Amino acid sequence: FLVDKGNHRHFMEKEIHEQPEVISHTLAHYLDFVEGTTRALDLPFEFKNLDRIALSACGTAFLASSIGKYWFERLARLPVDADIASEFRYREMPLSKNSAALFVSQSGETADTLASLRYCRREGIPIGAIVNVRGSTIAREADVTLPTLAGPEIGVASTKAFTCQLSVLASLAVRAGVERGTISPEQERVLVRHLAEAPRYASQVLKLESQIEAVAHELARYRHVLYLGRDTNYPLAMEGALKLKEISYIHAEGYAAGELKHGPIALIDEKMPVIVIAPHDRIFEKTVSNMQEVAARGGKIILITDKKGAEHATINAMETIVLPDVPEIITPIIYSLPIQMLAYFTAVVMGTDVDQPRNLAKSVTVE
Ligand code: G6P
Repeated sequence: FLVDKGNHRHFMEKEIHEQPEVISHTLAHYLDFVEGTTRALDLPFEFKNLDRIALSACGTAFLASSIGKYWFERLARLPVDADIASEFRYREMPLSKNSAALFVSQSGETADTLASLRYCRREGIPIGAIVNVRGSTIAREADVTLPTLAGPEIGVASTKAFTCQLSVLASLAVRAGVERGTISPEQERVLVRHLAEAPRYASQVLKLESQIEAVAHELARYRHVLYLGRDTNYPLAMEGALKLKEISYIHAEGYAAGELKHGPIALIDEKMPVIVIAPHDRIFEKTVSNMQEVAARGGKIILITDKKGAEHATINAMETIVLPDVPEIITPIIYSLPIQMLAYFTAVVMGTDVDQPRNLAKSVTVE
């Protein structure tokens, strides 16, 4: 069937705007909003019998998996190895019989992810696939398909598939916590309610478009950009850097904020802006210290935070993008939007081919 851009200049822009709707569809598949509960899933394993999950994927799907690791470990006390599939397939990771493997893929056709799935098949552990394309090879070869309901994604740079992958992983982690007894029925209701608020907050953040476009005009003047974040915002910092380099061809790196002093601080000067992803959470003050280190070296800061963070950040940022204060579990989903929009508008300013960036393919079916 035919997918068109509607009133949008690019598929990427359209797909960014579809997020409130597709996140809502995806969450509804895993959560019962009326009952305030996670849905029971027909899985080839029981969460309460697992001692480890191996999560593998490529590109943006790997970064979603890396965020999923924080959720499974924190909410369900279930250890997770999040691996780049091209590494996992050759790494010969020992897998106990109490392990399960999950593979995350928009297309369901990525060669390295598929090879990793086949490794786990040979090892005889149960396999789940979080995929966007039903009937794809990865979906067919898994024991269970956990769909993302993002609809067709045309832009090479993944946007809505990413936030739908996050929606599935968060819902699954809550379900795992319920089944493992680390989340009480009361906590389950609160978490489900928080997840249910994601589409509404996502719509609010889309309204920041004109401010983010203005920041992009600024960003487009630079050749190198550093993204920093802690906790789930660390993989999100890497995702921000990935999006920017993919479509604007500006060199960008994403780092754990605590690693700043172990290397990237050597690069900081007025020519390398630093994008800091920092909601006002329990480690916010640590990130503020990192921003002070950047500022002391003449580095320019673009801070993406919430209302509380904007009040408490004792630094002079070049730009501050203020998001609503959102529940902790949905921060990675909501903070994905300004990251995507910033990359999108920067690429538009640079005049690159946003939907089909040079040298990249939507689906990488060769090794
Ligand atoms: C390519 C695409 C990325 C995607 C990655 C993994 O590199 O350009 O957007 O994240 O493959 O693809 P998958 O379909 O497995 O999610």
